Amino acid sequence: MAMLNVAVLISGRGSNMQALVRASHEPDYPAKIACVISNDPTAGGLVWAQKEGIPTAVVNHKDYGSDREGFEAALDAVIKKHDAQLVCLAGFMRILTPWFVDAWRDRLINIHPSLLPAFTGLHVQQKAIDYGAKVSGCTVHFVRAEMDHGPIIVQAAVPVMADDTELSLSERILEQEHNVYPIAVRWIAEGRVNIHSEKCFILGEGEPPSLICPMIR
Ligand code: GRF
Repeated sequence: MAMLNVAVLISGRGSNMQALVRASHEPDYPAKIACVISNDPTAGGLVWAQKEGIPTAVVNHKDYGSDREGFEAALDAVIKKHDAQLVCLAGFMRILTPWFVDAWRDRLINIHPSLLPAFTGLHVQQKAIDYGAKVSGCTVHFVRAEMDHGPIIVQAAVPVMADDTELSLSERILEQEHNVYPIAVRWIAEGRVNIHSEKCFILGEGEPPSLICPMIR
């Protein structure tokens, strides 16, 4: 089976990146993490990836000042240098311009810790609590120029408990993020994800389904 080369873009601890790397070590997993790139040289995930022997790179946005396209051109060059065919944003804290998003259209995905389209932006677990949502979760989606929008590949739902804090809900959601991100990458690598009218259709969907809904614990 042909391997899909994946670039993972991080800005912090990179636990979703780690979940993707672990999945890529499973037998028959059809994707390989070709490089981990951070815009922040202090990102903890870089150290972890290096220990795993994965090529890493830093493209520091601060080196580019207000030149967003210069920053993105540098990112693009590193991604291409590693022959990546898919780019996974995993806690990458820079907003990408339409130039980059269009250049990687349908080959650029993101994980977001809410059930989109609800609760976009930052601190979305707290937003779900403040809103009184009974259910939240996470979404893996193709990236479009509008932040936290784009065709949904897979979602996992978790309950919001009455006594949840931002931290406790974040942890419950994060466990599911680590579950669903590798599923989305697998489906893309297997060529099973089609987009029609900005909606994803998964060929032969079934096990696992594209809605993960673990039991309330
Ligand atoms: C995750 O909650 C992800 O959904 C959001 O940023 C966080 C990154 O965490 N986009 P990590 O760096 O993957 O641990």
